[in-house]
Amino acid sequence: MAVDYTTRDGVAVITLNNPPVNGLGLSTRAGIVEGIERAQNDASVTAIVLTGAGKAFSGGADITEFNTPKATQEPTLATAIQVVEGSTKPVVAAIHSVAMGGGLELALGTHYRVAAPGAQIALPEVKLGILPGAGGTQRLPRAIGLEAALNMIVSGAPVMSEKLAGTGLFDEIVEGDLLEAALAFARKVGAQAGPHPRVRDRKIEHPNAEGFIQFVRNGVAGVAKNFPAPHKCIDAVEAGVKNGFDKGLAFERECFMSLVQTPESRALRHAFFGERAASKIPDVPSDTPAREIRQVAVIGAGTMGGGIAMNFVNAGVPVTLLETKQEALDRGVATIRKNYEGTVKKGKLTPEALEQRIALITPTLSYEDLGNADLIIEAVFEELGVKEQVFKRLDEVAKKGAILASNTSTLDLDRIAAFTKRPQDVVGMHFFSPANVMKLLEVVRGKETSKDVLATVMKIAKKIKKTAVVSGVCDGFIGNRMIEQYIRQALFMLEEGALPAQVDRAIEKFGFAMGPFRMSDLAGNDIGWAIRKRRYQEHPEMHYSKIADRLCETGRFGQKTGGGWYDYKAGDRTAHPSKLVEEMIVAFSKDVGAERRKISDEEIVERLVFALANEGAKILEEGIASKASDIDMVYLTGYGFPLWRGGPMLYADTVGLYNVERAIRRYASRPNGDAWQIAPNLVELAAKGRGFND
Ligand code: 3HC
Ligand code: NAI
Repeated sequence: MAVDYTTRDGVAVITLNNPPVNGLGLSTRAGIVEGIERAQNDASVTAIVLTGAGKAFSGGADITEFNTPKATQEPTLATAIQVVEGSTKPVVAAIHSVAMGGGLELALGTHYRVAAPGAQIALPEVKLGILPGAGGTQRLPRAIGLEAALNMIVSGAPVMSEKLAGTGLFDEIVEGDLLEAALAFARKVGAQAGPHPRVRDRKIEHPNAEGFIQFVRNGVAGVAKNFPAPHKCIDAVEAGVKNGFDKGLAFERECFMSLVQTPESRALRHAFFGERAASKIPDVPSDTPAREIRQVAVIGAGTMGGGIAMNFVNAGVPVTLLETKQEALDRGVATIRKNYEGTVKKGKLTPEALEQRIALITPTLSYEDLGNADLIIEAVFEELGVKEQVFKRLDEVAKKGAILASNTSTLDLDRIAAFTKRPQDVVGMHFFSPANVMKLLEVVRGKETSKDVLATVMKIAKKIKKTAVVSGVCDGFIGNRMIEQYIRQALFMLEEGALPAQVDRAIEKFGFAMGPFRMSDLAGNDIGWAIRKRRYQEHPEMHYSKIADRLCETGRFGQKTGGGWYDYKAGDRTAHPSKLVEEMIVAFSKDVGAERRKISDEEIVERLVFALANEGAKILEEGIASKASDIDMVYLTGYGFPLWRGGPMLYADTVGLYNVERAIRRYASRPNGDAWQIAPNLVELAAKGRGFND
């Protein structure tokens, strides 16, 4: 049973007991209704306390039930709240730790509420692409006022319970034993004659409600253009203000039912569970003991090493930073300081905190100083010979049980592990640039990496606030291996008739933060060139358009050289279409005998995104990623894939794999079609009418 029922000296105690967060699934809702009815029918009971066991009062509706029959099966949450609100014996909610979404809505249906300080109070539905669907948009403004409520509903952000003391939400904030205080409160109100107060009966008072609602509407218009939910949140609150509680409630219900079906909501829920699922590795049990990480060392204080070190000191973990030369070491530390100074200037860090963070860094030139480190992350030049030197030396100085990690983006982790006598302790930690900002961390699992090393790295990743996704060893791991197919298609399309600005515009309209050509100009076209040169050697059979090489031969490496796929004015990052590049592209098409044609935006988006999904399917099939949502998390957190589309794999599912397969086969039959080797599991799933994420 997901709800416990006891009585304590004339007070019924209904305890939600549905770990981990007392989600309000069908059995919990039924348990609440049963509990209230039982208390109503027990003459010895004068009042009821409603509370939650474990780490939450309630985290809200059970999201896993959405779009299943259970979600709408009676008693729905609305019914359960109606029963609570309709109880003639007063119901007191005793709130600790978390009251979110439906959990808060349930509490708003009780007659009185007492809370422990430090409880997170929120209506976070908007973050899942929906709106509070059990009266939250109607009752919260009546409890805490229109402005505070609308802000909470539209942002989804949590507010600490003590900050809401003195509002109509809480009757008491209790410092000591919450249950005892709630029982005492219940006895007191139980002795009073009813009816007991209902939030729904209060008025929403505001001197200029219409003006304020319009103000919020204007603010949301700019930031939420791809998300329908924030707009609906405002509409629902407004409906209650204008037409009263009952009509507002009916309108809220209508909005909830339509939002929960939207692809945006599906995508946001996918990302919510995807993030949590990513930290679970199928063959590494969740109780695998993690190693203790008290001291970290970073080898190489360049672009990546500096950012990596910052992640740990931000989390209060001391870092020893090693370089080969004093000058490089000084430069590295100075860059870190400059970065923090920027944060201080923005008012997001105090000067004292800056000094504390710098003090956590111990710069050194000596490997002998690494003996204490529990985790050592290498971020030196991307050359196997240099990695060999470093890992052999680390094997000599690192203490037993220390984890040896490499930030390599292209090299074979198993070869790196083989430079040591402890390959079980070697793992990849592939950060993304800038490493102190980007959320993604690909954790590369070598063939000998031990399970407790993986468990430890996943745990420390959480501590430094990264989204960690496990990848097997392959060229480019998950993210870069897929992006290569995307870039290949982008280049072919230039050859076939498109121009860089058109390709970028189409994919940016789809929602990518930056198209492939603007991105390449920013990163430096020489980086891709170097990778392609290696590919030509390693995979001579693979067909690439040489159009980017021709650009690089002219020295147009991007923003840093004042021109790449676009022209740039000095000191300005705005990309201007280049006549010269256009002529070069047209001439190139002619040279390779390609007949230029008009390429539609739809074709651009399909070829780019389906190239990602098709490679993602192969990555799944090979076991490089253990689930489709892991791939989506890589793209959402590391590659600017639009959140409201949920990642390339979910997007392919949304389009339907049958349609994706047909499109791929169509492109495969055209010029440059040899680049499409359709993934067998995509075909198989399409035939079964299933998706990657089913
Ligand atoms: N439904 C189902 N499962 C949920 C859930 C929910 N509402 N909230 C959390 N969980 C699950 C997580 O998936 C996770 O499962 P796992 O252990 O199997 O991976 C587990 O609970 C623990 O979650 P966290 O790792 O996030 O634990 P934290 O302690 O860090 O955070 C929390 C707890 C603050 C409650 C956080 O989980 C959270 O923000 N949850 C989402 C809350 C939310 O969005 N509620 C609104 C739901 S929609 C709704 O109520 C509709 C209504 O208006 C009709
Ligand atoms: P970088 O050139 O900025 O920094 C490398 C640093 O390592 C230099 O400061 C150099 O002095 C130092 N170094 C070289 N040999 C050393 C040795 N034997 N011992 C100690 N220090 C040594 O390079 P960057 O960009 O920081 O790259 C480092 C690693 O991170 C590479 O493996 C790269 O592939 C990887 N990477 C880079 C990303 C990027 O966007 N720059 C993204 C993800 C991974």
